[in-house]
Amino acid sequence: MQVAELVSKIGQHKYEGSSVTAGVPYQNIPNLNIKGHRDQSDWRGKRICELVDVKGKRILDLGCSVGTISSTLKDQGASYILGVDHDCESIGIALQLYDIDFMVAKITQEFISEMGHFDVVVWTSQFMWMVQQHGMEYAVEFLFELSKKCDTLVFETAGKQDGSAPLDMSQEDILPMLIKNTCFQEIIDSGPWGDGWAPRNVFICKNPRISWDSNFFSKVERINRKVIRKTYQNSERGRELRDREIYFLTLFQSSPKHFPRLLSDDKEFIEMSYEGIPALWIPNDDLAQILTELACRQIIHRDIRPENLLWNGTHCVLIDFAYAVHAGDITNYHYDLGQPYKSPHGYNDEFSLRKTQFKLMEARCRN
Ligand SMILES: C[S@@+](CC[C@H](N)C(=O)[O-])C[C@H]1O[C@@H](n2cnc3c(N)ncnc32)[C@H](O)[C@@H]1O
Repeated sequence: MQVAELVSKIGQHKYEGSSVTAGVPYQNIPNLNIKGHRDQSDWRGKRICELVDVKGKRILDLGCSVGTISSTLKDQGASYILGVDHDCESIGIALQLYDIDFMVAKITQEFISEMGHFDVVVWTSQFMWMVQQHGMEYAVEFLFELSKKCDTLVFETAGKQDGSAPLDMSQEDILPMLIKNTCFQEIIDSGPWGDGWAPRNVFICKNPRISWDSNFFSKVERINRKVIRKTYQNSERGRELRDREIYFLTLFQSSPKHFPRLLSDDKEFIEMSYEGIPALWIPNDDLAQILTELACRQIIHRDIRPENLLWNGTHCVLIDFAYAVHAGDITNYHYDLGQPYKSPHGYNDEFSLRKTQFKLMEARCRN
């Protein structure tokens, strides 16, 4: 089908969040001089490039409409772009106009969980439709998943100032919502687009590049999003570490908030609930609660460092109890353990946790 025919079909079938005016795409198409329902989408693409360096980046454009923003990002040097939308006619137009990968798909939690990692995700003016389609709880869970899948997210949503927007949230509520429900280390409110519509602020959310494939967890296999399988060597030492981990995790079964839950153990491996990404900061509340839980049980973890703290979206989880001991038990003293987070005076979990907190904060300031 030719572009003109596809444009004439726009609006005949109603796709939530897309154009409702017959023959008018949601975005403008500058190279064909076609006006859109929102007539400055190419300008929005350029604004994104002012805010984020897209050169050489792999980009996912969620709710890409006819691909006008995608095409601007490509012109500005993005190395790969995937545009996704449920509006078949819009994707048909985009595919004919640009040498970019576009696909018709519903943006859902399943969709994002199957996606690989992207350097940049552009998610503009679609969140409010997800809230309408699936509810707020679903949309914030999606946000959390998304925050684990990219280094940078460009986020914007309509809110109640828009009048017609299906989201009962003002622009001032969006930053706290992003802080609470994502694991981004840095979130910048870049202010409104400034394209004359009811103001919608653009948020640039950033993660440092940390991946589960790093050496953090040798001998650890991720079974799914929530479960890992940890295999110990079949040697006396391996069995000792495995038994110790099982023993200490069992002591924490009643406190699942800050410690992994033991799901099963076998001769060769144990399976644990590990949800989250490496922590990027430790809120003071979490620090106090972790120390209290350890102190109540008279346990010294001995190996607290950034690699052993996960962030699960709401709080920090302390992992890896293979070297923990009961306070006073110095029979298994490993002098090199926990370096360089170990106190000069011996093992002191509070010292290590505060040093970890300080180091994470320092890394945030540097980035
Ligand atoms: C308001 S437009 C925004 C377009 C573009 N992101 C922009 O900022 O110019 C929302 C887009 O999201 C698409 N959309 C809405 N809900 C969707 C869903 N569940 N799955 C896929 N696409 C969806 C619509 O078809 C529409 O193209």
